[in-house]
Amino acid sequence: MKALVLAGGSGTRLRPITHTSAKQLVPVANKPVLFYGLESIAAAGIREIGIVVGDTHAEIEAAVGDGAAFGLEVTYLRQAAPLGLAHAVLIARDYLGDDDFVMYLGDNFIVGGINAIVSSFGRERPDAQIMLTRVGDPRQFGVAELDADGRVTGLEEKPAQPKSDLALVGVYLFTPAIHEAVAELKPSWRGELEITDAIQWLIDEGRRVESTAITGYWKDTGNVADMLEVNRLVLESLEPRLLGTAEGSELIGRVVVEEGAVVEGSRVVGPAIIGPGARVRDSYVGPFTSIGADCVIEHSEIEYSIVLPRASIEGVGRIESSLIGHDVEVTPAPTTPRAHRLVLGDHSKVQISS
Ligand code: G1P
Repeated sequence: MKALVLAGGSGTRLRPITHTSAKQLVPVANKPVLFYGLESIAAAGIREIGIVVGDTHAEIEAAVGDGAAFGLEVTYLRQAAPLGLAHAVLIARDYLGDDDFVMYLGDNFIVGGINAIVSSFGRERPDAQIMLTRVGDPRQFGVAELDADGRVTGLEEKPAQPKSDLALVGVYLFTPAIHEAVAELKPSWRGELEITDAIQWLIDEGRRVESTAITGYWKDTGNVADMLEVNRLVLESLEPRLLGTAEGSELIGRVVVEEGAVVEGSRVVGPAIIGPGARVRDSYVGPFTSIGADCVIEHSEIEYSIVLPRASIEGVGRIESSLIGHDVEVTPAPTTPRAHRLVLGDHSKVQISS
């Protein structure tokens, strides 16, 4: 069994962060979201993995390398344009050969891993196995319709009028039957080859498509609110450790201070992580906050936020529910004239309380 991990796409909902970096590399508790998926794949006993990459290929390749650090053998497969999940299967055809495979969307986050579903698929070998979970707004996802016996009867991609609240989770298991389906597809209304349509083709052809409902935690980390929520969840299971220093400071609850980080005269209320080389001085870092490597937080307050490496926040009041990019600088404006001064990249979002 192989794995096919999708790490292309343009990440429009995470702009401007994704103007300069891949959405799959946005960190959760200071570790790229993609790495959690790679760890789950390795834990399920899979070794050979194809990673489909697009415009951000150099960055993904630099982060993951040959996969040895995860116990994986990685082959990179280049997708010239984000033409859909089924298009990714199409370009991976030669790599996948006649092997079964698990397809894993690189921006999906699943608590509890995939061991159970990979082994049940290995035993039963239906033509395809999908994972479903109940969601509040199914219109944003692929949606499944089940009959009274729980059999999948229909799938629709981002329907305006969803027939259920069961969304397709971004992990799919396939036998080579999927290649026959993909070969028959036409682009959808959004111009993509949809994996949802490929699975529907299998259903229409009378092939066996099984579904498993997951009750564990799942998020597609495509937007800021979901990123912050996943960050919260992962931080909750942190084991506190102090590898850096914390003089004249209070560290309360699950707090990790990484190697070379300096916390001085500050109060850090966990769960929170302060990345390697970061400096936190005369500040408050509240629960559910990840401060990246080499950040500087001085005379400031921040809570329920993700701060990417090398950003600095100096002399500002409470920051909440924020995602702050690499090398960003946040400082107070001069007192006169009383005005906000902004240098914002394309697609930035700012909420000012004044
Ligand atoms: C994709 C799939 C969709 C699925 C979702 C899960 O959506 O097309 O069926 O529910 O992933 O994350 P996309 O990320 O392409 O919008």
